[in-house]
Amino acid sequence: MRSTLLALPFIGSALAARPFVNEPATGIEELFDSLPAGNLVPLNQIVALHDFDYAARKFLIPANYTYYRNGAGGEWSYRNNLEVFQRYRLRPRVMLDVTGVEATLPTTILGYNFSAPFFICPASRAANGNPTEVERGLVEGAAAGGILYNQAGYSDLSVEEVGEIAAKNNQTFFRQIYLTGNDTTDKTAFNRAKAAGAKAIIWTVDSAADGVRHRAARYSMGSANGGFSLQTWGEYKKYKTWTDLPIVLKGIQTVEDAQEAVANGADAIWLSNHGGRQVDGSPSSLEVALEIHQEAPEVFKQIEVYADGGVRYGSDVLKLLALGVRAVGLGRPFMYANVYGTEGVKHLIKLLKNEIINDAGNAGIADLHNISPRAINWNVNHWYS
Ligand SMILES: Cc1cc2nc3c(=O)[nH]c(=O)nc-3n(C[C@H](O)[C@H](O)[C@H](O)COP(=O)(O)O)c2cc1C
Ligand SMILES: *[C@@H]1O[C@H](CO)[C@@H](O)[C@H](O)[C@H]1NC(C)=O
Ligand SMILES: *[C@@H]1O[C@H](CO)[C@@H](O)[C@H](O)[C@H]1NC(C)=O
Ligand SMILES: *[C@@H]1O[C@H](CO)[C@@H](O)[C@H](O)[C@H]1NC(C)=O
Ligand SMILES: *[C@@H]1O[C@H](CO)[C@@H](O)[C@H](O)[C@H]1NC(C)=O
Repeated sequence: MRSTLLALPFIGSALAARPFVNEPATGIEELFDSLPAGNLVPLNQIVALHDFDYAARKFLIPANYTYYRNGAGGEWSYRNNLEVFQRYRLRPRVMLDVTGVEATLPTTILGYNFSAPFFICPASRAANGNPTEVERGLVEGAAAGGILYNQAGYSDLSVEEVGEIAAKNNQTFFRQIYLTGNDTTDKTAFNRAKAAGAKAIIWTVDSAADGVRHRAARYSMGSANGGFSLQTWGEYKKYKTWTDLPIVLKGIQTVEDAQEAVANGADAIWLSNHGGRQVDGSPSSLEVALEIHQEAPEVFKQIEVYADGGVRYGSDVLKLLALGVRAVGLGRPFMYANVYGTEGVKHLIKLLKNEIINDAGNAGIADLHNISPRAINWNVNHWYS
């Protein structure tokens, strides 16, 4: 009897599921949990990307925060995007000269120079986080940090307004669009993007239908794009005749579609499940990149491949780059950082650059443009599966 009772706590812990942690602890909660809602954690207390989530959750009204935080359905894909990186451990090599790794941070995207292999994803409703500055902090912060800004189709500034800021800062930006199927309207969108100075069009193709978003629906903050849209390779070819800007396909989720993109002459592809916001059960971009690496690795040489979803640490970036991804995008962290405006966005860029080079150095990676896939153990670590 006694021995049974003693064994019970052990049985309990053996069967307990590892809980999902949205904001892995950084110690910020110990300092600020008593800070009343509506207050902003001082920026100098933000030491990690997850701290921006904590600060925004505390500062924003629930409806506005929830629009950013939300994922589709049961949010399994949203959670998987964050957790997947821990399923694959590093294989750090030692006794290598990594002292020059910082000099390898800069990269090119479609031939344009940037200071780091990460960028700001297109995300609508910047005003939710910053009603006065709206998108300006994102545009100005990207310029100051030397990274790419992708303006969302459903944005709070017009493409011309972003073009003006970019011209002043000598900044390269791309413009994301959702196509309406009305050729007159869609041609106008292409022409306006080009005239405003955008250097590429991002066509988001993971949103043929509306995203089912429960958490956001509660606040009438569902998807910004509605209804069904026609997305076919035929349409892609038609759009290519309308503009001389490169058209990047955002939302590729299988090796087959990556190969189709190459076959159809796509300018570049962007692996994404829309931050887990479109269809629950969709794979993370790390899983898709691994599938391409295993089944059609030549794709990474044929076209530029970008990826986003759940990137929160320097080592997350390294894992995607190791598979052949050229640059990675972040959505929510920048939206949360934009609560602080330009300074927050600049701070995030500085933190992530610092993590990338230090994580690389400790992992024995000397050159961010030449990371061996063997820098990562691609056998699943089942504690996190
Ligand atoms: C609040 C929010 C709004 C978004 N709006 C758009 C959009 O208008 N167009 C688009 O292509 N992707 C949109 N996305 C998806 C992002 O571009 C990106 O794929 C995703 O946020 C990456 O995942 P992460 O948030 O985990 O970094 C949005 C994402 C968020 C969080
Ligand atoms: C981009 O960087 C390379 C290498 O530093 C440099 O040679 C080139 O002139 C730069 N291109 C532009 C457009 O600034
Ligand atoms: C919430 O977001 C909207 C934009 O969608 C903005 O106009 C409003 O001011 C925000 N509310 C607060 C309290 O920040
Ligand atoms: C603007 O950018 C171009 C290309 O990157 C560069 O050659 C030029 O020196 C920059 N000019 C200024 C004023 O920064
Ligand atoms: C397409 O949009 C144009 C301009 O917005 C409008 O005049 C036209 O009626 C639309 N065409 C169709 C078929 O809906």
